[in-house]
Amino acid sequence: MRLVGRVADGSTESSARLILMKDFEKRVAAEELVLIENSVEGKVSRILGVLREGLGKNEFLSASSYRPDVAYMKLGGEPSGAREVYSFAIKPIGVVTEEGLDQNRLIIQPRAPVYILEDEDNPMEWIVRGLDVIWTKAYIERHESWRVPVVKNFIPYHVGVYGTTGSGKSWFTRHILVPLYIDAGYKIIILDWSGTDYAPYYQNTDVTEVIRITDIAMDEESILSYFEDKTFEFAKNNNLRDAFDEFIEGWTGKVEKVKEVAKEGSRPEEILYKMIKNHVENVANSLDTRSKQPALRAARRVFRRLKPEDLVPLMGTISVEEVYERLSEKRMIVIDMSSALSEGKLGFFLSLSNYLYGLMEAGMNLNLALIIDEAPQYAPWSPKGIQEASTEMIKNLAALGRKRMFNLTLISQGVKGEIGINAAVRRNLTSNFFGRIHPLDASGEGGALEWLAPYGITADQLLQLKPGRFYFTGLMNPSPIPLLITYKVREHV
Ligand SMILES: Nc1ncnc2c1ncn2[C@@H]1O[C@H](COP(=O)(O)OP(=O)(O)OP(=O)(O)O)[C@@H](O)[C@H]1O
Ligand SMILES: [Mg+2]
Repeated sequence: MRLVGRVADGSTESSARLILMKDFEKRVAAEELVLIENSVEGKVSRILGVLREGLGKNEFLSASSYRPDVAYMKLGGEPSGAREVYSFAIKPIGVVTEEGLDQNRLIIQPRAPVYILEDEDNPMEWIVRGLDVIWTKAYIERHESWRVPVVKNFIPYHVGVYGTTGSGKSWFTRHILVPLYIDAGYKIIILDWSGTDYAPYYQNTDVTEVIRITDIAMDEESILSYFEDKTFEFAKNNNLRDAFDEFIEGWTGKVEKVKEVAKEGSRPEEILYKMIKNHVENVANSLDTRSKQPALRAARRVFRRLKPEDLVPLMGTISVEEVYERLSEKRMIVIDMSSALSEGKLGFFLSLSNYLYGLMEAGMNLNLALIIDEAPQYAPWSPKGIQEASTEMIKNLAALGRKRMFNLTLISQGVKGEIGINAAVRRNLTSNFFGRIHPLDASGEGGALEWLAPYGITADQLLQLKPGRFYFTGLMNPSPIPLLITYKVREHV
């Protein structure tokens, strides 16, 4: 702890400015934590705060008025620094007491001494007194030994991770959130939308399992819409649509049988393809004369378009119940969702979340974190088609999850608007990590700034954050003021 300056004129109980002593402007930076010794009638209260909004003043160098120093400078001279004042806003985090942090209610005294905190002080220990916390591997920027604590009870109050592409969201999730949830006793399911952010980093081991979405059985609705998509709506022929629909009934059973009878060297999708083709042609042939020819023509078109390979994504037989049950042995399951269409991915999400919702409704505590990367694919600003169902589902999961030890972690490039998460869903995420933001999030209602500006964090800072830096805000943070945190990437996860 080291004296660096004093509180300036104009302080209140919730705001103060620090005037730095000479030369400390070269050493004291924004985001550092400080302690104000506020003495009121001989009693000293120690107020912990964070530095923001640095300001250098030298009125003799005003750019809008003519002063002797300006004249001297214009001729190439070096103006005097004697009247320079360097200051920072101090955002008070709270009064440090034996029982923990308390809100400061006394006016902060101008003149009060301000100390910068050094590594050995570890103010995080003061913040967590009296709280049930878990220590993460993340730390306060520039102080590797100040680990970031998380209030355990608020984990099921859901989490948002935001930042533009390349800001480090997926890495942060893998290196910090996943270990955190595991330490807190949660099992984890990660939905890896593109199959590139998580699946390649985890192997099948005693504790983790990577399952491809194509190995999971789809529900029959999704299978029908997949065929619809692949065949130009069954060549616009309703009889054909009915024929496919008929065949799809009991799909998983048929796939299992086909896999059983497929011998070495023969491909199950080809057998299945022949079965569908036969069924559809039989249906077409049995129609009355007026409908028969159009249906046969449509069938020829459909089967010219549809190839046996197209059936591969539909050949999964693992049920969502089974996916969940595998968690009784493993700690984490990663679903590699590449090689499925968006509709298929959302179809799977709906089946899985329906199942989880059912368990919670029946009164079960899940102890489960569901991590959804690329969350706007599931719950966009303005949902369409199947997204309407997934958005509604996420909202319901969030509401019920709070009481059932179920955490939703949504990851998104943007906070609001077209690049962000649906507003009704976002309201349920009570702890947020904001990395470098997109300019679209820098203005207007509902963006990152709305959360952070009251604490002296500006758009300029958010637009320039380096990868792996996040402002941590919300219920899980024992500090009521958002703090800038980061983490080191180690070789393995
Ligand atoms: N703590 C860190 N320190 C240094 N570099 C980091 C850190 N975290 C992430 N990075 C770098 O940032 C890159 C991008 O990270 P990541 O893939 O997590 O971004 P993302 O926000 O998930 O992007 P996208 O939205 O495109 O998925 C990584 O490849 C890594 O090199
Ligand atoms: Mg990512």
